[in-house]
Amino acid sequence: MSASTVVPPATAAIPSAHTGKLFADRIGRIEVSATMAVTAEAAKLRAQGAKLVDFGAGEPHFATPRHIKDAAIAAIENNFSRYTVVSGIPEVRKAIVERHSCDFGSEYAVEEAVFTTGGKLALFNAIQVLVDHGDEVILPVPYWVSFKDIIQYAGGKPVFLHTEESENFRITAEAIEKAITPKTKAIILNSPSNPAGSVVAPSDLERIVHLAQSKKIFLLLDECYVYLQYKGAPVSGGSFLDAKEHVIVLGSLSKTYAMTGWRAGFALGPRSVVAAMSKLQSQSTSSTASLVQKASIAALTGPQDCVAEMRADYLKLRDRILAGLAGIPGITCTVPEGAFYVYPNVSAYIGKGGMQSATQLATKLLHEAHVVAVPGEAFGTGEHIRLSYAVSHDDVDEGIRRMQDFFRKLG
Ligand SMILES: Cc1ncc(COP(=O)(O)O)c(C=O)c1O
Repeated sequence: MSASTVVPPATAAIPSAHTGKLFADRIGRIEVSATMAVTAEAAKLRAQGAKLVDFGAGEPHFATPRHIKDAAIAAIENNFSRYTVVSGIPEVRKAIVERHSCDFGSEYAVEEAVFTTGGKLALFNAIQVLVDHGDEVILPVPYWVSFKDIIQYAGGKPVFLHTEESENFRITAEAIEKAITPKTKAIILNSPSNPAGSVVAPSDLERIVHLAQSKKIFLLLDECYVYLQYKGAPVSGGSFLDAKEHVIVLGSLSKTYAMTGWRAGFALGPRSVVAAMSKLQSQSTSSTASLVQKASIAALTGPQDCVAEMRADYLKLRDRILAGLAGIPGITCTVPEGAFYVYPNVSAYIGKGGMQSATQLATKLLHEAHVVAVPGEAFGTGEHIRLSYAVSHDDVDEGIRRMQDFFRKLG
């Protein structure tokens, strides 16, 4: 056996000499992302030859637009392949602030922008630099899976804010104000939201931004789906210039430009916060991939019709999947105002066919109907499943047909 093929000894059984523990406490505070767990289970079935309809993955079914790919190819050909400044080259940060200013009327300097390896890292770094042990972060339910774990990883305490399904999971300033305590450090909002596609009304957003300002806390606004809002012009938390010091905008190119695998995200916020996030980034990932920065400049400064075209298709897909779900007795569903998910309430079927939870229902749906869905427990509610309709129209029809059969048999 050559030296390179010698299997290293397993370290998993070796605890630290002075604590008796193998792992640091912080890794025990988080779980594997539920959406990734579903993807892994589905991959196993697929490997066995199953033809799945995949409503699990939260990513566009479109290819990255040609002009964006061309910019990356040119970057490679031009040997733009070295380390860059940690927070992103000035041109990419300029493209971010100008795009945001043009679309939302915000006013950020290049130094108030940091380019990150995906929007998730922008969120992770923002929480890491702001949230200390014991700090509270207000999080409306249903929430995107990673918010809770990222807060907990930092040692913070998520304070869950109940919303009413009958009001389309609306988030109001009154509800947030009631949840604020002396320990509150931040509020996280995501509009349009993953998983329910709810949008924070502009008047609510304005009041929440000013609430954050008056209470001297931060509003972290995840704008990952801001360009996928179906009705009315989207409003950004960064548009309220008088309260800018209390708002951190977390952005992503993943969904807007069908670039999930490129890992391109950003944060806009107070100079000091952005500097702290860049400092953290300098000791972890360093800059994002150089060619991704070039591709992102093309995305942000190039023609935006691709965004409108994709949004128009998502809207048709939304209506198609909602119409299909409406044909399943007992299932109700709020009408998403953005993003590309529906969040049907399946509580009428929990307790039937041996299923005691949404997780068990999603598992049975996967194994028996070959439809991939993410159970509501991942988003803080036990009565729903999340279906991503960023799939082909044929897949929507086939998935609905399979679900209609599946639920009919459960009766
Ligand atoms: C609400 C929300 N925020 C942020 C992200 C992160 O996106 P990315 O890291 O691909 O930019 C996602 C991805 O699914 C999301 O749903």
